Amino acid sequence: MKAIIITQPGSPEVLQIVDRPKPAIADNEVLVKVMAAGVNRPDVAQRKGNYPPPAGAPKDIPGLEIAGFITETGSNVQRWKTGDKICALVIGGGYAEFCNMPEGQCLPVPESLSFAEAASLPETFFTVWSNVFDRAKLQPGESLLIHGGSSGIGVAAIQMATAMGSTVYVTAGSEEKCLFCEQLGAAKAINYKTENFSEAILQLTNNKGVDVILDMIGGDYTPLNIKCLADDGRLVMINSMNGKDVQVDLSAVMRKRLNITGSMLRSRDTAFKSAIAKKLEKHIWPLLASGKIKSVIYKIFPANEASKAHQLMESSEHMGKIILNFEDL
Ligand SMILES: NC(=O)c1ccc[n+]([C@@H]2O[C@H](COP(=O)([O-])OP(=O)(O)OC[C@H]3O[C@@H](n4cnc5c(N)ncnc54)[C@H](OP(=O)(O)O)[C@@H]3O)[C@@H](O)[C@H]2O)c1
Repeated sequence: MKAIIITQPGSPEVLQIVDRPKPAIADNEVLVKVMAAGVNRPDVAQRKGNYPPPAGAPKDIPGLEIAGFITETGSNVQRWKTGDKICALVIGGGYAEFCNMPEGQCLPVPESLSFAEAASLPETFFTVWSNVFDRAKLQPGESLLIHGGSSGIGVAAIQMATAMGSTVYVTAGSEEKCLFCEQLGAAKAINYKTENFSEAILQLTNNKGVDVILDMIGGDYTPLNIKCLADDGRLVMINSMNGKDVQVDLSAVMRKRLNITGSMLRSRDTAFKSAIAKKLEKHIWPLLASGKIKSVIYKIFPANEASKAHQLMESSEHMGKIILNFEDL
């Protein structure tokens, strides 16, 4: 098969197409002919050498989500058969013509979605569900602040949280991105380059603050997050792009009874990921089928232009997901 590998840590050009043997499958796994793969910020971090793949992942083929059809099933696979159209969360190896994954991490391609649209879902939808709904326990009627509202994670989180009955606020880096987030359902998008988001949130909530914050930025955002969380608020971290060493006002944590938490999805085991897949299929997949929640794709690149896809992601010009098309590789 053809695969896109990280030839060495470095700039987008280190991504190159090579020939590789098809992956072998375990008894609980399926093999998938990949039609499309999503590009995610962790792929960029891996390419730069800042995010080593966990045990069990291909060491040099990036890619955390794919869509395609099943070509082979392991002897213990119960649900899927050859020819089924699925999308899946994978531990790595998504940038390739074929990819293997445990059957529990597969979901059916939602009705009326293309492979590219289906490939845009798993990494962000699994991450948002597990952090916003499972860890931070966002409830209908509560409010959520999402930093990086126009990111792949952001467009999933805005739609999922509004569909579940929450009021969503976001931050984004331009007026165009703010408008885009509001059109997706955010009650208010704050341009963090021209406004102090913490003050803006307090104003928008009559000084109450928000119940939950989903943060990928960290660094200097942390004291501002603490300031604009409501009593019993929850801060859930999924990255720390502005820095991991931060200042926390512990008296505010105690006074407001805050919870600070976070998680990383990729290294979690199959049982954990399969449990999230079940919840997504129950709560979110019907909303994708009905069109209430949409796949939001900014640009699709042919797979042999993976380096251009990474350049675009690093430019942060995009709004929504970037996809690699493997159909013509
Ligand atoms: N913990 C987990 O399990 C997990 C899983 C998946 C993703 N993540 C994390 O979630 C984040 C979003 O991922 P994604 O794939 O959705 O990324 P993405 O689409 O590339 O979005 C990232 C956005 O963040 C904003 N941003 C603000 N400050 C930034 C900074 N210092 N550096 C870079 N971008 C900055 C940019 O938009 P503006 O113009 O608005 O600044 C950018 O478009 C990433 O940090 C990723 O590592 C975590």
